[in-house]
Amino acid sequence: MLAARGLTKHFAVKGGLLQRTVAKVRAVDDVDLAIHRGETVALVGESGCGKTTLGRLLLRLIEPTQGDVLFNIPEEDYERIRTRGEPDSMEDGPASDLVRRYSMSRLRRRSMKSLRRFLQPVFQDPFTSLDPRMLIKDILAEPLIVNGIATRQEAYELGAKQLQEVGLRPEHLYRFPHEFSGGQRQRIAIARALVSEPEFLMLDEPTSALDVSVQAQILNLLLDIQQKQGLTYLLITHNLSVVRHMADRVAVMYLGRIVERAPTAELFANPLHPYTKALLSAIPVPDPSRRRERIILPGEVPSPINPPSGCRFHTRCGFVLVHCGWSPRDIASIATHLFDPSRNPDAADLTKLDEVVIQGDRLLLEYHTPATEEHRQRVERLVKARADLPDGIRFRAIQQVAIDDGRIVLEFLHPMEPSLDEVSNGHFVSCYLYPNTAIPGRPQ
Ligand SMILES: Nc1ncnc2c1ncn2[C@@H]1O[C@H](COP(=O)(O)OP(=O)(O)OP(=O)(O)O)[C@@H](O)[C@H]1O
Ligand code: SF4
Ligand SMILES: [Mg+2]
Repeated sequence: MLAARGLTKHFAVKGGLLQRTVAKVRAVDDVDLAIHRGETVALVGESGCGKTTLGRLLLRLIEPTQGDVLFNIPEEDYERIRTRGEPDSMEDGPASDLVRRYSMSRLRRRSMKSLRRFLQPVFQDPFTSLDPRMLIKDILAEPLIVNGIATRQEAYELGAKQLQEVGLRPEHLYRFPHEFSGGQRQRIAIARALVSEPEFLMLDEPTSALDVSVQAQILNLLLDIQQKQGLTYLLITHNLSVVRHMADRVAVMYLGRIVERAPTAELFANPLHPYTKALLSAIPVPDPSRRRERIILPGEVPSPINPPSGCRFHTRCGFVLVHCGWSPRDIASIATHLFDPSRNPDAADLTKLDEVVIQGDRLLLEYHTPATEEHRQRVERLVKARADLPDGIRFRAIQQVAIDDGRIVLEFLHPMEPSLDEVSNGHFVSCYLYPNTAIPGRPQ
C-alpha cells in the first residue's frame, strides 16, 4: 500500500547572525519500508531516532530531502523496483518509470490533495490536536468540507455516524473539546481521522498521553475499526507491550536508520540486532524464573547531526567488532593524551605533540619536529599496547601506522555500514554479527 524507497529527511540547523545553514540533522536516512494493505507495522526506537519524521514523510506532511513514497503499488512492481538497483542509479533505468508512476513525492499539489483523504494521522496529544474553540460537529465535518469531499449537510451526517463508531453519542456533537476526558478526546481525534474514509492511519503514540486504564480501550477500538474497515496502520510507539498487542510486523529504528524488521512474534522471540535486544530487555517479565537480564546501553544517543560512521550503533554496542565502523573520531580525544609525551610517560621519547587532526579515515599526529622511523615505531607500539587491552577494540581497527610529510598517520579500516539483509523468512537485520552481511575488507 505504501512503500518508502531511499527515503531521507535532513533538517537544516541555522546559526549565526545571517541564519545560515550550519549543519544538518539526519532525522531519517535512506529508509526502505513497505507496508502491505490491511497490516499494522509498528515503528519503535528511542526518542529522537526519527519515527515521527518517517511517519510524516510517508503521509507527505513534509517533503523528503531525497527518495520516494510509493502509493498503491502492486507487489510485483515493487519487487521489480527493489531488485533493480539503488535509487541513485535508477534515474534513467527501467525501474525509474515505475517509481515515477507510483511516487507520491512527485505528485503535484492538486493530485496530492485528492490522495490525502486516504492517508490520515492521529497524534499523541488529543489536548492540543483538537481546536478548543470548535464544536465537535464542526471538528468532524471540517476535513470533508475543506477538501470538497461532501456538502455541509452530508459532512455533519458522516461526522455524527463516525462519532458513534468510536463509542460516543450524538449529543456529544454539540460540546467543545474541553468538556471531554483524555480518552474521549482521543476517540474524537480518531473519528476525525476516519470521516474521510481513509485507507491508512499513521498512529503516532496514540495512547501514551492517556491513563493506563484508558489505553487498552483505545487500542481495542483501533483494532475493531481496523477489522471492520480493512484499514492499514503505521503504529509509532515506545510501548513494546502495545506493539505486541497490535502489530503484525515491527521495524526498529536507530538514529534515522531501520536496523531490524521482522514479524512481531519472530522479533520478540528472536531479536537479532544488539540494539533490539537492549530495547526488549527492558520489558518486565512476570515469571521470575524466566527473568532476563536488563541490558543498559552505555552513553547517550549520539547526535543525528554527525552520526557515528559505519554501524551507527557501534559506540554503544556490547558486541562491537573491529570492522563495525571505528574511525579517527572514536580515538581523537584519547590520542591527545596517549601520544603526548607531556601527558603519557610511555610516550616520553617523542617530541612535543603540536596537533591531532582528523582527515577522513586517517588521524594525523603532528609533532614539533618531523617524525622519524623511531617515532613511528614508538607510536605503533603504543597503539598495539592499547589494542591489547580489553577495551582496546577501537585501536584494533587501525590498519597501519605510517609517516606522511613528517607527520605520523594512523590509518583506519574504511568504515562501512552493514546493509539491511534478510537472514530468515521476513526477518531483516543490519549487523555484521549475522551472515549475508558484507564485511569491509573481506571478499564476498
Ligand atoms: N522540524 C524540525 N527541524 C529540525 N529538526 C527536527 C525537526 N523535526 C524533528 N527534528 C529532529 O529530527 C530528529 C528526529 O525527530 P523525530 O521527532 O522524528 O523523533 P522521534 O523518534 O519521533 O522521537 P520521539 O520518540 O521523542 O517522538 C530529532 O533529532 C529531532 O530533533
Ligand atoms: S554491526 Fe552489529 S555488532 Fe557491529 S556495532 Fe553494529 S550492532 Fe554491534
Ligand atoms: Mg515522535
